[in-house]
Amino acid sequence: MERALKLDHQYPATHRDAFCIPTYGSMGLRSDGAKASDYSPVTYLCGNSLGCMPKSTRNAISQELDAWADRAVESHFRHRGEQQGLTSWMDIDLPLSNLLPSLVGALESEVAVMGSLTSNLNALMVSFYRPTSTKFKILCEKGAFPSDFYAFYNQCAIHNLDPDEALIRLEARESETFLRTDDIIKAISDNKDELALICLPGIQYYTGQWFDMEKITKFAHQCKGIVVGWDLAHAVGNVPLGLHDWGVDFACWCSYKYLNAGPGAIAGIFVHERHTQVGSSEKQSYLPRLAGWWGNNRERRFQMKEIFEPISGALGFRQSNPSVIDVVALRSSLEVIKDFGGINAMRERSLLLTNYLMELLMESRFYHKSAPNGVSAPGFTILTPPEEKDRGAQLSLLLFPHHSDRKLDTMERVFEYMNERGIIVDERRPNVIRIAPAPLYNTFQDVFRAVDILDEALESII
Ligand SMILES: Cc1ncc(COP(=O)(O)O)c(C=O)c1O
Repeated sequence: MERALKLDHQYPATHRDAFCIPTYGSMGLRSDGAKASDYSPVTYLCGNSLGCMPKSTRNAISQELDAWADRAVESHFRHRGEQQGLTSWMDIDLPLSNLLPSLVGALESEVAVMGSLTSNLNALMVSFYRPTSTKFKILCEKGAFPSDFYAFYNQCAIHNLDPDEALIRLEARESETFLRTDDIIKAISDNKDELALICLPGIQYYTGQWFDMEKITKFAHQCKGIVVGWDLAHAVGNVPLGLHDWGVDFACWCSYKYLNAGPGAIAGIFVHERHTQVGSSEKQSYLPRLAGWWGNNRERRFQMKEIFEPISGALGFRQSNPSVIDVVALRSSLEVIKDFGGINAMRERSLLLTNYLMELLMESRFYHKSAPNGVSAPGFTILTPPEEKDRGAQLSLLLFPHHSDRKLDTMERVFEYMNERGIIVDERRPNVIRIAPAPLYNTFQDVFRAVDILDEALESII
């Protein structure tokens, strides 16, 4: 613990106070076992699932509730808080165009705040997955987040394609836990004539692997006629990205993880500017899309004419007027990120925290370099790639031995033991625990406590 205290002194969590960290009392946990009071914060290492609430969010939402109460529909054009810099609802999402692009490495015109992750992925595939009789395959991964898989699978159905033929699902080599970049490149090369789309996660939700997005995107584009899209659910706000410079075609993400915008928060999309310039599509003067009035020319939006003139840039992909409450929740969180120094400052602190976590885990007597074959004493291995360039904040632990009876299973017992003592991590059945220190609010003491209690948990079931 002494080292953790020293590290916290050297690299303090300067913005921890900007967040509501759940307490033993608020979580309904018994604090005596953990030698903490009801008011002590728990050790929240689950920002990869749902980020903590910024304290400023409550006020940001409250201001919009007041606007609704006081001026109702007029707030779309004449917000009561205009004098204090608040935006009328008609343009409520536009201030975010200053805050989001630097997080994903985009031009302002390439980013829009809208919808939710899966619905945006589906919408973007309508525009970007245009299979022909010869070029129709989608390259994805075998262990993709199920929502993504369902989207890919049903795109095949929409285009009358057999998913078994159209989907190329990459798997890690036997006895390896994550995909090798060279294997991805080879799969692209082997299938280049039939590939229409590559859609991978920036960071894999289960293993925490950060794909070499630049290399994969650039290689695919050399092969001609292949579109590259990324699901950035676990990458946005976690690692620095360069979507514009890498030439990524499209990307989408959610905002409730490392962006701390709240459960089910409004999501975001990236569309490279080369796809949104007028005349970029041969048949029409714009890329076909799932369209709606909010993507239409702002000045003529309320003329209610049957002419769709999309706004140039990613904003032209918006369909509906956005939820104001959602947008300001995201704004308040992005302001905290900006104040912290942006994504590079976050990544710097994130590496320190996660490297410390890795170090402590590897020192544990329960740590194994790889999962043993057959029956073994309780222990764990780390699924996440060891090198910094291949991972973000999260480390994924595979616990063993696995038992089909939950009461006897190592992961279930460890997870419960940790949870009861206020170590909030997340479980992925059947046997994985994911731990993700968030650089905005986690401390080195959080990391120390998590590994200490993990060891204690494993000790208790020997
Ligand atoms: C990688 C990935 N893709 C898709 C989703 C689904 O997100 P949503 O429910 O916001 O559409 C998630 C949710 O956690 C995810 O982690």
